[in-house]
Amino acid sequence: MSKAKAAITTEEIQATSRKLEGKTPQDVLEWGLERFQSKIALSSSFGAEDVALIDMMWRIDPKARVFTLDTLRLPTETYTLMDQIRLRYGIDLEVYYPDMNKVRPMVEEHGFNLFYKSLDMRHLCCDVRKVEPVERALKDLDAWTTGLRRDQAPTRANIGKVEPDEAHPGKVKLNPLAAWTSDQVWAYIRQNQVPYNELHDKNYPSIGCGPCTRAVVPGEDPRAGRWWWELDPNSKECGLHVVQAAEGPRLVRSKSS
Ligand code: ADX
Ligand code: SF4
Repeated sequence: MSKAKAAITTEEIQATSRKLEGKTPQDVLEWGLERFQSKIALSSSFGAEDVALIDMMWRIDPKARVFTLDTLRLPTETYTLMDQIRLRYGIDLEVYYPDMNKVRPMVEEHGFNLFYKSLDMRHLCCDVRKVEPVERALKDLDAWTTGLRRDQAPTRANIGKVEPDEAHPGKVKLNPLAAWTSDQVWAYIRQNQVPYNELHDKNYPSIGCGPCTRAVVPGEDPRAGRWWWELDPNSKECGLHVVQAAEGPRLVRSKSS
């Protein structure tokens, strides 16, 4: 790898976004790895999109960085997959855990399964287990890659393949699969025999923490199983991603908290 380059400007982000809009996920990854060197990492929850990206990235640069946020409430199947992926690709997975000084008082005050009590409680849990840890993960990075796709949710319809990270000014977010459909992701997984979470074969199209994810029935929205007790599709974000709304960028959750 060559030396890190000068800090990126808004103009460069905009020009790159235009240039890469019609390009493949691999083109976007190649640009990111070349532009940010060791200062870019994939944020992986080990869902279908993320394992496809791991495979693509590994083919470009086997040393490309991958981090995950272990909320300590993930399904057993996800931990099994994490071990499989580490073995298969030889990845030095960077794992970020919640701060136990925040978990302990939260659980003592509100209970282990506080997320079922109210939207505010659910957001508190996501804040402690995901949002604070991602701040630590991003500290030494200039850019991060995610598996977000535009057709996953109304909250994601406007994401760019390369965009400024509104929640972390100065940092860049790459969403190489922004324009892909779920079918394209699965075609890639099958074609390349990428290991994937066995819950996907049990009608879990989207997988998060164990207590906050259930299977969907045929015809249901693929994200219906995430925080299934919350009915507003605009609330179905954990706070990791700032989304573009009609009135400008905002955190979806800011509606209720
Ligand atoms: S969430 O906001 O509803 O949880 P989703 O599960 O759709 O997000 O995942 C979207 C992207 O967010 C993933 O492709 C991944 O880049 C990132 N992400 C979500 N959860 C995690 C996690 N636990 N660790 C690392 N990255 C994650
Ligand atoms: Fe907590 Fe559920 Fe959010 Fe996981 S998805 S951090 S268990 S509220």
